[in-house]
Amino acid sequence: MKTYRVAVLPGDGIGPEVVGAAMTVLKAVGKKFDFSVELTEGLIGGAAIDVAGTPLPPETVEKCQQADAVFLGSVGGPKWENLPHLQKPEQGLLGIRKVLGTFANLRPIKVWDALVSGSTLKPEIVQGVDIMIVRELTGGIYFGKPSGFEEREGARTAFNTMIYHDWEIERIAKIAFEIARQRKHRLVSVEKANVLDVSQLWREIIVEVSKDYPDVEVSQMYVDNAAMQLIRNPRQFDVIVTGNLFGDILSDEASMLTGSLGMLPSACVGGKIGLYEPVHGSAPDIAGKNKANPLASIATVALMLEYSFGVKEAARAIESAIDQTLAAGFRTADIAEAGSSVLSTSEMTEKFLENLENAA
Ligand code: IPM
Ligand code: MG
Repeated sequence: MKTYRVAVLPGDGIGPEVVGAAMTVLKAVGKKFDFSVELTEGLIGGAAIDVAGTPLPPETVEKCQQADAVFLGSVGGPKWENLPHLQKPEQGLLGIRKVLGTFANLRPIKVWDALVSGSTLKPEIVQGVDIMIVRELTGGIYFGKPSGFEEREGARTAFNTMIYHDWEIERIAKIAFEIARQRKHRLVSVEKANVLDVSQLWREIIVEVSKDYPDVEVSQMYVDNAAMQLIRNPRQFDVIVTGNLFGDILSDEASMLTGSLGMLPSACVGGKIGLYEPVHGSAPDIAGKNKANPLASIATVALMLEYSFGVKEAARAIESAIDQTLAAGFRTADIAEAGSSVLSTSEMTEKFLENLENAA
C-alpha cells in the first residue's frame, strides 16, 4: 500500500479545527482508496511565534521539506497584529511558499448547484460558474525589494516594489495555458498595463507564450475591469492568470460568487513539494467555537490528492461527496439560508463522511 507523508501546519484561529476535519477526511479517503498517510505536525504563524519566537521555525521548514506534500490551515489574528511586519504570523505563510518555491497558486471558484441561491448575487448570474484563478505566488509586490519605512523630506514614508522578471511571468503563464488547455481553452490575463511598467512586461510575455498555445483563446484585461466583470458576468471566465496582489484581491472577490469564502480550496504548486491551503483566513471571531465551515479544507484535500499524489478518483469522490452533502441541505453558519438548521464544524464533517461512505 502506498504511503503519503504530509506535513500538517494547522496555524492559528480556525486553522486547527478545519485542518483536523481535513485530516480525518484524508484518512477516511485513504481507507477507501487503499493508501495510507503519515502525518507530522509543525508550527507556523502566531502559534509558532508563541512557542518558538518566530513565525516559521527551521524545524517546520525541515518537516515540510521531508514530506510529500504540505497541508496548511491559516495564520494570523489580533494577538499578533501589532508586531512589526517581519515578525507577523503572515510571514510564516509567505516564507513557506517561498521556501517551497510554489510559485503557482491555483484557486478554483466553483459554484455548487445547491448553493446557487446562497450567493449575494442573483442565481442566474452565478449558476454554473467555474473559474480557475492562477495567481503568481512567490513574486511581485509581496516580495519586491526595496521595501520599508523611512523618513523622506520630513515625511514618514513607506514603499514597496512591484517587480517581475520575464522568467517569473513566463513560468506562471505556461502553467495557466496548460490548465486552460485542460479546460475550456480560454485564458484571461489580468494586469494594469495602462499604468504600470511591470504590467506592460507581463502583457508582452503573455503574448509571447501564447504563440505556443494557438488552441487557447487569450485576452488581456485591466484589473479594475476584471473586478467589475467578475460580478457583472462571471461565466465569461474560464482561466484567469494574474500577479500576486491582484490574485489575492480577485480571489476573495470571486469567492463570494460561491456564497462563502468558507468554500474555497487552493493548491500552491510549481515547486518539488506542493502546499495546500484553504483560501479563507484564520477567522478569529469564530475560532475555537466549532463553527467554521470545514468544506474549503476538505476540498483542499481533493486538490492535494489530485496534484501531489495523482489519485484523481479519490479527489473526484471528495468533490461528489461535498456536492451530495450540500444537496442534502447540510449547512454551516456561513452558507446557511434563513430557516435552515446550522451545523457545527464537526457535524458537517460527520455528514460529509457519511456521504463519502455512501458514494460509489
Ligand atoms: C491569502 C492570504 C495571504 C496572502 C495572507 C494571509 C498573507 O490573504 O492566502 O490569500 O495575502 O497571500
Ligand atoms: Mg487573501
